Amino acid sequence: MTEQLVLGIETSCDETAIGIVRGRKLLANVISSSVEEHARFGGVVPEIASRAHLEAIHSVLTRALAEANVSINDIDAFGVTAGPGLIGALLVGVSSASGLSLALDKPLYGVNHLSAHLAVDALETQHELAPAIGLLVSGGHSSILKVSNFAQDVTVLGSTIDDAAGEAFDKIARILKLEFPGGPAIDRVAKEGNASAIDFPRGLTNDSGHIYDFSFSGLKTAVARYLQKVPNAVVADVAASFQEAVVDVLLEKAIAAAKAFGMEELIIAGGVAANSRLRQVAAQRCEVAKIQLRIPPMTLCTDNGAMVAVLTSLALSQGVGASSLGLEAQSSTGLSRVFWP
Ligand code: KG4
Ligand code: ZN
Repeated sequence: MTEQLVLGIETSCDETAIGIVRGRKLLANVISSSVEEHARFGGVVPEIASRAHLEAIHSVLTRALAEANVSINDIDAFGVTAGPGLIGALLVGVSSASGLSLALDKPLYGVNHLSAHLAVDALETQHELAPAIGLLVSGGHSSILKVSNFAQDVTVLGSTIDDAAGEAFDKIARILKLEFPGGPAIDRVAKEGNASAIDFPRGLTNDSGHIYDFSFSGLKTAVARYLQKVPNAVVADVAASFQEAVVDVLLEKAIAAAKAFGMEELIIAGGVAANSRLRQVAAQRCEVAKIQLRIPPMTLCTDNGAMVAVLTSLALSQGVGASSLGLEAQSSTGLSRVFWP
């Protein structure tokens, strides 16, 4: 049996993205980002993001079909990010996907953005999808998850109690007067700095009530205080030391979870998984702990449509039911559901 052709749409934040997969094989991954339109505001402006999605979605769809060398009539099922995300932005994707599904009479799957970030691990790989610990680190979320099955069984072990890891990068970059988004900027500047120059706090590391939870607000305050005290601080050293504190605490907790739950694999996903220091230290520590590290290629870490398509493809192959045509976008939702009814 030939595997199903699935088109996935992602519009939860500032990327208008469409991916096309056949089974777990990637055929197209087209992304149009409005990030430059938000840069002067220092953060994503929801109304600008929604308008940019409306303007971009048709050409992104046309380009994705051309890249995959398929016609829209060949698509067997549509997947779309239904939440969490900016409501106006999500609605552009959900309306487009619902329209396509209705017009072409093909099933529609409303998928959870967070699960999709993890499921991208299944793309272009041959390996069996073994149970794993997932470390999901994005602009909106930082969680440690027990992933038994991407499409059907994901449990949250812990989350951030304040800022998300990516949000911390973005806020610190602002304090350091680096450009938006802050993650890539800090990553670049930190390469010139000394990561052990300043000993910034590692939040919630000795708190038995929050073994798998994160807190980054104390770290943010510590960096701000340091800069007040040392106005001529070397920006690269501050960036590198801040990044080291984040990377250290993320990996310490994720690896502790893998050991505690007897998991032999760790998946790191979400925008912050693009961080070069996180990738480097994760490889070192997983080797020591004898844990297999699964981390998507850089281009698939930040928001994309391929992750939505592959999660939808897994749902189809496992017989998960499609969403109704009354599918509604939901701005804030955790991981209690992977697919919308
Ligand atoms: O997953 P994502 O593209 O969007 C959300 O779903 O939030 O993640 C975006 C976040 C931003 O906060 C951005 O600063 C961060 O990922 N990010 C990075 C890097 N690249 C993107 N953080 C650290 N280092 C990077 N290289
Ligand atoms: Zn994301």
